Amino acid sequence: MNKNTMKQLSFNIKTFGCQMNERDSEIMAQLLAEKGYVESIDIEDSDVVILNTCSIRAKAEQKAMSLLGALRKAKKRRPGMKICVAGCVAQQEGEELCERMPHVDLVIGTQNIYELTELLEATRGTSKVAISMSDAYEIPAFIPVLPKLLQGKELPPPFPARPFRKFLTIMQGCNNYCTYCVVPYTRGREISRKVEDIINEAHVLVDAGIHEITLLGQNVNSYGRTNPVTTDGSEYSFSLLLREVAAIPGLKRLRFTTSNPKDLSPELMRCFNEIEILCPQFHLPVQSGSNAVLSKMNRKYTRELYLQRVEELRSFRPDIALSTDVIVGFPGETDANFEQTMELLEHVRFHSSFSFKYSDRPGTRSADFDDKVDELVKSQRLARFQKRQDEICLEQNSLYVGKNLPVMIEKVTEDGMVGRTETNHIVHIEEKIECLPGDIVHIAINHAGQHSLNGGISSTPATYNK
Ligand code: SAH
Ligand code: SF4
Ligand code: F3S
Repeated sequence: MNKNTMKQLSFNIKTFGCQMNERDSEIMAQLLAEKGYVESIDIEDSDVVILNTCSIRAKAEQKAMSLLGALRKAKKRRPGMKICVAGCVAQQEGEELCERMPHVDLVIGTQNIYELTELLEATRGTSKVAISMSDAYEIPAFIPVLPKLLQGKELPPPFPARPFRKFLTIMQGCNNYCTYCVVPYTRGREISRKVEDIINEAHVLVDAGIHEITLLGQNVNSYGRTNPVTTDGSEYSFSLLLREVAAIPGLKRLRFTTSNPKDLSPELMRCFNEIEILCPQFHLPVQSGSNAVLSKMNRKYTRELYLQRVEELRSFRPDIALSTDVIVGFPGETDANFEQTMELLEHVRFHSSFSFKYSDRPGTRSADFDDKVDELVKSQRLARFQKRQDEICLEQNSLYVGKNLPVMIEKVTEDGMVGRTETNHIVHIEEKIECLPGDIVHIAINHAGQHSLNGGISSTPATYNK
């Protein structure tokens, strides 16, 4: 590809969508680095550009597509540039993407990312499509490479960013087939990774100085239910996995995402009470407060069951911060149905939420429903939901004022530090002490905003580092 053999080839990856894509981008970056590629700062000045796309909502897809369109010019200026589309749009569109966008060199499916470098080498002038989707797919035992973290605290702030927390994929795909969702089509059947591979990867991360791990999957509660995950074929569960990962010496915080309320087991809820490093934070997408809508969505739980789970979770861990996802304007959603979502918000008082207007996705069942809600009504409902949620965020956050909380430092800036509480609230600290990202410092919270907290140091990290 490049006549000048002395020159190192560069790559740039743009990631759209969920944490699963973020983790996949890291894997692709590592594969390229192992082949000698270096990461470039400017996407237009790269030998290989990868767009890791998301198709969960029309808007997410459009964002990636407009960047892809803009890259046509960049490629004209730099004819050697190879453009690769990965992720859920790639998986769904395959060949068609190359027809629409002839400047694309490679379309790579969600189960094909590990073949990236071989495929790139094989692209010579014509577009290549590698999309496979197997029910027997196994997530490879891929070992992350992280720079060894600097020992000691000699670096003066602001110091270069260093990794202190990581995502760890434990499963891929989804078998739930919610009627609005593309994930079962773009990520395939639900497949759990082997326990041994997960534990090995967690050890590698902790040995490299990672202090916080988030276990990732579309539906982590059903980990190990669809395929054997142990070497001897014995039964296993998500709560067992949590306990095993939590036992790794040196790990300070453990989180996971995402969970479906229908599979939330008492064993998992008990973990919040029993595992010290499991953070009191739970993302439990509800989608709607109306049973009629939940049923049309094929969510397989009721509003009552959801509320019961919330009660139970709070009885196991009263300080748990709950967050959720909500879709407004699902086909057939009436004013009364929407009011029930508002009531549910009022009742649960989520610490935060992600809310979206329903968006038709190709291939999903709801795309064919004929009782679509008017765009304007969807916008009005979304604005009302978000306004009330913002008020509740502020009310909930105000309850932290006056508390002394352990905060994991994320960065040290010229005028202070930024970190996160166990409940995943961002804290702005107007002072600084000698510490590194990943250290835990106790902070006296003195102010609450809608989306973050403020505070001052109340102790040194040495006292509170576990
Ligand atoms: N596995 C997770 C959700 C993953 S997708 C779960 O089961 O909850 C993230 C969120 O995107 C969903 O929770 C949903 O709120 C939203 N979403 C998915 N498809 C959508 C669509 N067609 N229109 C609008 N929002 C959608
Ligand atoms: Fe999509 Fe439903 Fe699976 Fe979540 S559980 S990924 S919303 S199909
Ligand atoms: Fe998007 Fe695919 Fe994740 S559709 S949300 S990138 S699984």
